[in-house]
Amino acid sequence: MTAIYPGSFDPITNGHLDVIRRGLGMFGEVTVLIAKNPKKTGLFSLAERRVHIHAAVEDDPRVKVDVFEGLLVDYARAIGAKVVLRGLRAVADFEYEFQMANMNRHLYPGMETVFLVTSADNFYVSSSLVREVALLGGNIDDLVPPGVAAALRAKKEPLGDP
Ligand code: PNS
Repeated sequence: MTAIYPGSFDPITNGHLDVIRRGLGMFGEVTVLIAKNPKKTGLFSLAERRVHIHAAVEDDPRVKVDVFEGLLVDYARAIGAKVVLRGLRAVADFEYEFQMANMNRHLYPGMETVFLVTSADNFYVSSSLVREVALLGGNIDDLVPPGVAAALRAKKEPLGDP
């Protein structure tokens, strides 16, 4: 059975990777779904995010990576999946996640969201903070997979160091 792990993954962090690994322990397969948001232009292209995820999971055949624009429930129906995986970091995540989980179940009865509580090492790690810190020259090497750290450094270079 596959569990869908949706998100922006701009970029994938060690927190996401932890959820994927633990999700694999519960479900035979995890489909990492990069949600295309027409209102947001990310730092990394969808193709780049895809490459980062494949590299981070070392092309584990149990991890599928896909990109989708539209309702998550429509994607889930199309592939016959009924489980969504999400990581929960802090209380601040809860309300948004609670709303999404219930909205998805309203739209697709029987669809369940399984929350994995983020490990202590990763509870403060988010893609947006990682992007900000990296682009301002901070060290994020312990927070993201090596390929992402290198790609963030490469993104910073065009800004030029003073
Ligand atoms: O990593 P993020 O940005 O917190 O992920 C949010 C995401 C992609 C899971 C959410 O925005 C989503 O499911 N988008 C797909 C469109 C959709 O189904 N929206 C209604 C959600 S109730």
